[in-house]
Amino acid sequence: MMKRTRINELLISDDLDREVVVKGWVKTRRGNKHVGFIALNDGSTIKNIQIVVDLEEKGEEYIKDVTTGAAIQVNGTLTASEGKGQTVEVKASEVIVLGKSHPDEYPIQPKKHTLEFLRENAHLRFRTNTFSAVNRVRHNLAFAIHKYFHERGYYYINTPIITGSDAEGAGECFKVTNFDLNGAPTDDKGGIDYAQDFFGKETNLTVSGQLEAEAGAMALGQVYTFGPTFRAENSNTSRHLAEFWMIEPEVAFADINDDMDLAEDFIQYVIRFALENCKDDLEFLDNRLADEEKQLPQDKRSMPLLEKLNFVVENDFERITYTEAIDILRNCKPNKKKKFQYLVEEWGMDLQSEHERYLVEKHFKKPVILYNYPKDIKAFYMKQNDDGKTVAAMDVLAPGIGEIVGGSEREADLVKLQTRMKEMDVPEEELWWYLDLRKFGTAPHAGFGLGFERLVVFVTGMGNVRDVIPFPRTPKNAEF
Ligand code: 4AD
Ligand code: MG
Repeated sequence: MMKRTRINELLISDDLDREVVVKGWVKTRRGNKHVGFIALNDGSTIKNIQIVVDLEEKGEEYIKDVTTGAAIQVNGTLTASEGKGQTVEVKASEVIVLGKSHPDEYPIQPKKHTLEFLRENAHLRFRTNTFSAVNRVRHNLAFAIHKYFHERGYYYINTPIITGSDAEGAGECFKVTNFDLNGAPTDDKGGIDYAQDFFGKETNLTVSGQLEAEAGAMALGQVYTFGPTFRAENSNTSRHLAEFWMIEPEVAFADINDDMDLAEDFIQYVIRFALENCKDDLEFLDNRLADEEKQLPQDKRSMPLLEKLNFVVENDFERITYTEAIDILRNCKPNKKKKFQYLVEEWGMDLQSEHERYLVEKHFKKPVILYNYPKDIKAFYMKQNDDGKTVAAMDVLAPGIGEIVGGSEREADLVKLQTRMKEMDVPEEELWWYLDLRKFGTAPHAGFGLGFERLVVFVTGMGNVRDVIPFPRTPKNAEF
């Protein structure tokens, strides 16, 4: 039996007039009683291949089950196309329906569906142009991430998904237990006795692989993780998922400036990779975004996608301190006119997404790295600056999404770290091993976390993280 050829290969082939086997899903069918035209897609490219079926001898009935969504096999000849819109097509000698699509019930019709409707049909939305494009771009970005680090001598390490620590100290952990919740054993104080649980201690799904990655970096020199991360924050926003993927490099002998350099170079590299390797998909997504925004007034529209991506790879990111950012925000128009939901007054306040987006989209009009944040709004592990007020933290903010990276130089001094942990009620006995890293051969080191879905949102121009992960997990939603 002849092997199938993928459609992406056929479309660029100049080896014509040969027998081919194509398999895929029907996008559309049109034609008349003499000839049928099928647009077929197999996921290898956003483009369809045209299948031409001569119905003169076979009869119209021959392709009655070839309806949108059906899986078919076509045996035929690859030929130059006479029609416009494609250079090659397949003249079918045989069309075999592998799986009917039951057109009365099949939800994905060849028309525009809302993104909300498609989320409810996440198992089928891969079949739309938008989601196939998004998922191919997502794959390419993941590949580029591994390539970037591998080529620079970083080791990919896998940090635990089940852990006993809350790395960010934000208390947004999902518990992991083997107890029957209706009859969990209690201790003599009436609390749940985790000593009897599966791991003999309280455990949760990880919110970050950073702490364990630090252990790796303090021996392997430079490492990165790329894994699933879980946060039970009850925020129903277009930027938050309860289950998301995070890339976390950790580098020994690096300070906050090295960390910012790495984040910027890395982001530009993976975007450049996508621009070079996902041309058709990004062109499609560029048009999609323009179409989506065409009813908006000019000043409400975002920069065209490809223009934005090229701009980001060609221009340096702006770097300013948190203190400088507060100055800009305090004196900006929307703050003075009380247009912000949260007004910017005090140094020390946490920045909201509206502030981050103002800096990036209105003030600087490019990605911004904010660094040296007040220590009170950041995690315990960050390096304390000499001013006694700030830590060597940095966030990368991108247009349209806000924070995509959060990172820092780490506190390498044992005593300073212990003191900060006490101040912030981080239990030392649980993190004894983390403190050991400062006891045995401590060294300056730094790292960051990039939210993968936020990067994919940025690169695809999609407006919501729920539309760039195949099966999103959000509050009250774990379907599929
Ligand atoms: O800023 P965060 O909380 O930093 C850390 O977890 C550090 N331990 C990382 C490190 O230094 N190794 O999270 C890092 C990034 C954010 O900038 C954001 O892009 C993403 O993870 N992120 C989320 N993405 C989707 N849904 C959520 N609920 C997210 N929370 C954080
Ligand atoms: Mg953060």
